Amino acid sequence: MTTEPPGSGVESDIDVAPADQSVGSKAELKRRVQMGYSRSWVVRKYSSIGLWPSEQLLLNRFLPPKGLFLDLGCGAGRTTVPLALLGYRVCGVDLAAPMCRRGRILARRAGAPSLWTVGDAERLPFDDGVFNGVLFSYNGIELVPGAEAKQRVLAEIWRVLEPGGVLIFTTHAFEAFNKYLPFRLRQFGRLLVSRLLDQGIEETEVGEVIAPAEENVEVYYLQVISPRRYRRWLANIGFNLEFYNSRSRVEQGRRPNRFLADLDADFKFYVARKPDLETTAEANPHGFDQSEAPSPEDDR
Ligand SMILES: C[S@@+](CC[C@H](N)C(=O)[O-])C[C@H]1O[C@@H](n2cnc3c(N)ncnc32)[C@H](O)[C@@H]1O
Repeated sequence: MTTEPPGSGVESDIDVAPADQSVGSKAELKRRVQMGYSRSWVVRKYSSIGLWPSEQLLLNRFLPPKGLFLDLGCGAGRTTVPLALLGYRVCGVDLAAPMCRRGRILARRAGAPSLWTVGDAERLPFDDGVFNGVLFSYNGIELVPGAEAKQRVLAEIWRVLEPGGVLIFTTHAFEAFNKYLPFRLRQFGRLLVSRLLDQGIEETEVGEVIAPAEENVEVYYLQVISPRRYRRWLANIGFNLEFYNSRSRVEQGRRPNRFLADLDADFKFYVARKPDLETTAEANPHGFDQSEAPSPEDDR
């Protein structure tokens, strides 16, 4: 299905793009992610609107002042509404229909013309090259189950970006020095033991944390990996990484430093540009590395 690119303040009907069922248990994990972010208390939790200071700084620095913008994993519009109020023509896309419904209400109240579509980042309902910018904020990409699907998402974003278009997203880091590091190391040990002893646990990849379906939680699935892998995937697809730093370092005005940013406790910001037409031909548009088996070494 192809949706008209957003614009002119027209709100689309909310469409439901059915989750891809062809990938076995990863599809079940995605269904759980959708369930978690459809709960009314979670939608309420995500209903406060406003860009982080770091987002504001990076948008000012890397985005053209006007254009078509895709807010992927938009939730209830925390970033979608401010972008629309800044004058961008914005389309918010989220896996969870209740998030889109709430976002549409909040946008209407704020007088922020925007388009809202339920959809999956792995299969975006848009033509090639229509967006000037894409935002996948607040670590949303980590909710996409598995390394292969994350690369598919990045390749899909590449497809819908115009040459010269910009992608901004954030992640945690496996190696970050924060209070979750012991937990991540424990999970890693559990995965290794389960592989060695051939004992099945639900987590099959490094950095995965999976909550049982019967729990009433927000996050049923999360995968925290090393930013080095995201940087490699971006390069394989053909993006130029124009900026990488942690959120707190951005807000403190500290210079980008990959090593220090990787270890920093806070989220990481990636600003990646699809090269313009002259250089695009040389890039590898579907170039996510299929042969790359996610391995523990990548995350150490
Ligand atoms: C942590 S919330 C952030 C919401 C919003 N960006 C914000 O900053 O308030 C992540 C959002 O990503 C959405 N999401 C997860 N997987 C997705 C996918 N495959 N495609 C589209 N959205 C997805 C979730 O439904 C959820 O609303």
